[in-house]
Amino acid sequence: MSKSLHLAQLFRYAIEQGHLVRGDRMPSLRKACQDHQVSLTTAQRAYDQLERENYIAAVPRSGFRVLGRPDKPHPALPPADSPIGMEHLTTALPMPWGCPFMNSSLINTTPMNKALTQALKDYRTALISHDTDGHDGLRRELALRYLTQGTRLEGEELLITCGCMEALSLAIRAVANVSACRSMLVVTPAFPAIRQQLEQVGLQMLEADCDPEHGLDMAKLEQQIEQHQPGALIVMANFQHPVGRTLPDSQKAALVELADRHRPAIIEDDTYRELYLGEQAPLPLKAFDQRGTVLHCSSFSKSLAPGYRVGWIAVSRYRDTIRGLKLYSSLGTPLPSQMALARLLASGHQEEMLQRLRHTLRQRLTALQQQLAEHFPVGTRLITPQGGYVMWLELPHGLNTSQLLPMAMQQGIHFAPSPLFYARPDAPVNALRLNFSFYDPLRHGSGIILLAELIKRYLLKPERHDVAPDPRAGRFGQPYLFRPRRSYTACASVPRSTYSSSPPTGMPRAIRVTLMPRSLNSSAIMCAVTSPSAVKLVAITTSCTTPSSTRSINLSRLTSCGPMPSIGEIRPINTKYKPSKHCACSSTSKSAGISTTHS
Ligand SMILES: Cc1ncc(COP(=O)(O)O)c(C=O)c1O
Repeated sequence: MSKSLHLAQLFRYAIEQGHLVRGDRMPSLRKACQDHQVSLTTAQRAYDQLERENYIAAVPRSGFRVLGRPDKPHPALPPADSPIGMEHLTTALPMPWGCPFMNSSLINTTPMNKALTQALKDYRTALISHDTDGHDGLRRELALRYLTQGTRLEGEELLITCGCMEALSLAIRAVANVSACRSMLVVTPAFPAIRQQLEQVGLQMLEADCDPEHGLDMAKLEQQIEQHQPGALIVMANFQHPVGRTLPDSQKAALVELADRHRPAIIEDDTYRELYLGEQAPLPLKAFDQRGTVLHCSSFSKSLAPGYRVGWIAVSRYRDTIRGLKLYSSLGTPLPSQMALARLLASGHQEEMLQRLRHTLRQRLTALQQQLAEHFPVGTRLITPQGGYVMWLELPHGLNTSQLLPMAMQQGIHFAPSPLFYARPDAPVNALRLNFSFYDPLRHGSGIILLAELIKRYLLKPERHDVAPDPRAGRFGQPYLFRPRRSYTACASVPRSTYSSSPPTGMPRAIRVTLMPRSLNSSAIMCAVTSPSAVKLVAITTSCTTPSSTRSINLSRLTSCGPMPSIGEIRPINTKYKPSKHCACSSTSKSAGISTTHS
């Protein structure tokens, strides 16, 4: 193999493996020569080859940029015969509603960035007093915050952890060590990681169902505790994941009193406490705890500081055990993250950030609920969450959401099917969780219509879905409504040329999907709308009319068009380029009762 082909192969490998990703700058030709001991001609030939294969592109006055790996239909999926798990529900799909994380584009990162810069000025001094319990300043700020929200914590009670995940893990292991129990009782549906954590320490997961409307059945719970003697009760009393409901204060008090009587500990996961959608944060179970029964775990990963990995645990009567476990597992929690959070809390700037975040979440939830109520089949039960960023839907019986998932993924949509939130084999299969932080009302309405249509088709012929299709196969039964023309991994972006005086280059890259009637001829369907910057998009009008009962919506077809602003968050792109000819495309979806006009 020639030297140039060898060099091209090295870079191709780096791109395919994701070591170099879309937008990365390639080493300059001169650097490539130095690094790989080749001549300039050889390096030039290698880059030419990669350009021809669409791995890289030359950008005027900016060298070469990586274009990304050639289209991959889906992010790493499991083998065909194993189920899709939480780890496959990534943000790589256009409508990633099964994703467990908060949409990072909703987080204002500036206050944390500033706090980090300022905090690091005291870094050397802070290093001296840093220990396993965590940064003193942060522990004090947290205790004060709890106090103002109505919960008293004792001086030495808080221990800072790497996110709430570590707090939960420490709590489970501490209780298991101290009580030598064989099981723990988990209020379900529950955060899936709890099941894995219990499995890791060899504990059986017992389940106590919590009805979204009526809460916990206390008499049944007491019976279960008496019968199985679990070491702990694991519960989210506020915004229970994934249903988003909160126990009334009377039930919280009763729960703590029940645990006091029977001696299991309570492990409380209060991760979403800052994301209340009502007027104020509800009280945690810890506020009702007089005897050190509640191990309270929380973090700022979902609100102020995703990625900083700062969480905490109120250690209660397990203080020594938990300190020991923390010391010998991770020694401590990264100090700069803790210092930045302490600084932010002391400044008071977090309140405005949180208020905005809650406001956006409320807006997205309302829009999603409207769309669901309009299009989902009769018999669907929507559970309105009181906090957090996920909502729970119970669909008509006969629908298996795990079987539906691969079909939805082929259309660029995912959700979290209900069996993920239970341990028992006879768990409900007809519910699903949607992450509404990723639901953009202007871009994603048609996705909900499409999902509703898949559900209705499924309900008409459930027996055909017994064997779930392989999402990679690209087909399920009859031909699909939607064949994406762009990669699932492609993301919304504005080419550099948008900001220059030269005409836009490349294909218009879709970030919005629109249902179009199949009856449109192919040229109409293929007519992609150029970037709104080019057609000078000023308004998007969406009017909805209720479809008549005889209308069929399986005529619809999904197509896509260019970037557009979402409500009050992203302004239309400002561009210097003025096209000589303005064109506009209007698409209608008669069948779904929706018409969309771009002007
Ligand atoms: C309910 C629940 N608890 C705990 C965690 C873990 O939180 P952290 O990211 O702070 O470790 C998550 C994360 O998704 C969660 O959803």
